[in-house]
Amino acid sequence: MSEQFKLTINGKSHTVSADADTPLLYVLRNDVGLVSPKYGCGQEQCGACNVLIDGEKAFSCSVSVKDAAGKQVTTLEGLGTPEQPHPIQAAFIAEQAAQCGYCTSGLIIATKALLDKNPNPDMDAIRVGLQDNLCRCGAHSRVFRAVRRAARELAG
Ligand code: FES
Ligand code: FES
Repeated sequence: MSEQFKLTINGKSHTVSADADTPLLYVLRNDVGLVSPKYGCGQEQCGACNVLIDGEKAFSCSVSVKDAAGKQVTTLEGLGTPEQPHPIQAAFIAEQAAQCGYCTSGLIIATKALLDKNPNPDMDAIRVGLQDNLCRCGAHSRVFRAVRRAARELAG
């Protein structure tokens, strides 16, 4: 049975009607129109659906809309714009850190979560920070360079 839930997404309030156990990913994509988080596996195995919830990386395929209600949800759309990309987005562009791009939103969100906690990660920390994010195109070496570039940019 549908219920109403109040969500704060990228700083804006939204009221959605959904079954309580509907994955947040479906609500973001189908009800709110934010399509950067992608469906990959639906089982916390690929990271394509990553968003931030209260600043922590989360798998939106497995978080219910009920559990996300009342929290701050951030998607890739909330980081920057094409005109003014976030430094992490700019770094991914500069390093050409994508091929098909299906994993990229999740990787950028995971990078944001990593750099918020560790502004100067070494390669081991980057590997651990992004270990939940699969890239079937094999863009990892460019992704790692993008993370290092973003860290330098953010450090000024
Ligand atoms: S779709 Fe959520 S982890 Fe793969
Ligand atoms: S760029 Fe295609 S899956 Fe990563």
